[in-house]
Amino acid sequence: MKTKGFTDADGCAPIFGSHQMRESAPSEFIPENSTPAETAYQIVKDETFPQTQPRLNLATFVTTYMDDYGTRLMNEAVGINYIDETEYPRVAVMCGRCINMVANMWNTPEKAEWKAGAVGIGSSEACMLGGVAAWLRWRGRRKEAGKPFDKPNLVTSTAYQVVWEKFCQLWQIEMRTVPISRSHPTLDVEQAIRMCDENTICVVPVAGVTWTGMNDDVEALDKALDEYNARTGYDIPIHVDAASGGFILPFLNPDKKWDFRLKWVLSISTSGHKYGLVYPGLGWVVWRDKKYLPGDMSFSVNYLGADITQVGLNFSRPAAQILAQYYNFIHLGMEGYREIHSNSMAIARYCHDAIGKMPCFENYSDTLENPLFIWSLDPAYEKKARWTLFDLQDKLMQKGWMVPAYTMPKDIDDMTVMRIVVRQGMSRDMADMLIGDITDAVAELEKLEYPTPSRITYQKGLKHKGHVYTH
Ligand SMILES: Cc1ncc(COP(=O)(O)O)c(C=O)c1O
Repeated sequence: MKTKGFTDADGCAPIFGSHQMRESAPSEFIPENSTPAETAYQIVKDETFPQTQPRLNLATFVTTYMDDYGTRLMNEAVGINYIDETEYPRVAVMCGRCINMVANMWNTPEKAEWKAGAVGIGSSEACMLGGVAAWLRWRGRRKEAGKPFDKPNLVTSTAYQVVWEKFCQLWQIEMRTVPISRSHPTLDVEQAIRMCDENTICVVPVAGVTWTGMNDDVEALDKALDEYNARTGYDIPIHVDAASGGFILPFLNPDKKWDFRLKWVLSISTSGHKYGLVYPGLGWVVWRDKKYLPGDMSFSVNYLGADITQVGLNFSRPAAQILAQYYNFIHLGMEGYREIHSNSMAIARYCHDAIGKMPCFENYSDTLENPLFIWSLDPAYEKKARWTLFDLQDKLMQKGWMVPAYTMPKDIDDMTVMRIVVRQGMSRDMADMLIGDITDAVAELEKLEYPTPSRITYQKGLKHKGHVYTH
């Protein structure tokens, strides 16, 4: 007999005695009836139960550890919408202060009290805003000169992050890509200049290339563009996609010129949620001066209690990340960021050395510019191996690590690499555990008598498609 209250969803059933726990989780329609909060909570929580621990996820650049105070501030602000400036005016002030600090960290020449910039949900929104501004400025100049403005293009390397493909596709801008190769592992400046013409809205170098962890040489690009612009009379600017490098270079390599110290760098974007050390999602974009932020990009509304002007693709957005960024700036200071990133760099170098010493591997570059690196199978070893880096990825997943294997971009896509991104939250002890797990996994793979399916795919010259998740 059914005991009243124990199998009905009235809040009395023990969580795992409830009928919901016997049924598959809703996936198509909103359920007709309610589910007690603690049962619904358990269902949602358990969906993520078997996943990798965020800090063992060495694939992501995004923050997976914040201290208790930062976390507390974010949790307490979880209900605040940034756009409601009239209701939460101090959040807008804090956002402006963060933009000022980021702009000054990048050596802005702007003297105004409030620097020209915007908050984004991540680097993607920040990149889009930088790209749109470059396109509108170019279009404005073309219109004024009575010239056609229907064929804009943008120049970057094939190691671009997917946001630039999205930007070019969505705004119908031709994307011109300079191939990267083993001999030119970063943006080849000469080739980039050869791709420019009167319709180029900007060139986009990357500080902290997603695929390799290296930095494009922005100083060399700036010099080359200066000569090119002087010769042609064009005004082609640079937008630096500094998604990760924007919060690394100022602390670990402050003398390197890649930012507003360079003449043609008119805008820079970064992710506050990567090496800015804030949980997702937060991005920043800063312009060299207000005059480079076209007026058409500001939109005003009058129905939130005052006239509110904002620059952004989203309207509503969480405020918690802004509080956390401001907290990090105050709490860590330049000193704290320097120490945390120096540790990440030291741990990345330690892993890089250890992996470089294993006979089966070859590091992509000898030195590290950012706390991340890639490596591949040693070419001689690869010829006789019965496994691939995709098999190693699977083995490491069994130990809880997410260390991604992937094929490189166009032109060197026959090369498979593995990447480790070291962030705050990774200690030397964890690095030792990781290296131990890699060593053990390789030893097991070397015992294989037959090639793995991924190796057979490789031998047939087919591209590994990566994992396909069906749900
Ligand atoms: C160079 C680069 N640009 C843009 C992005 C997009 O950043 P977000 O995930 O913050 O939108 C990334 C993300 O990894 C990146 O590495």
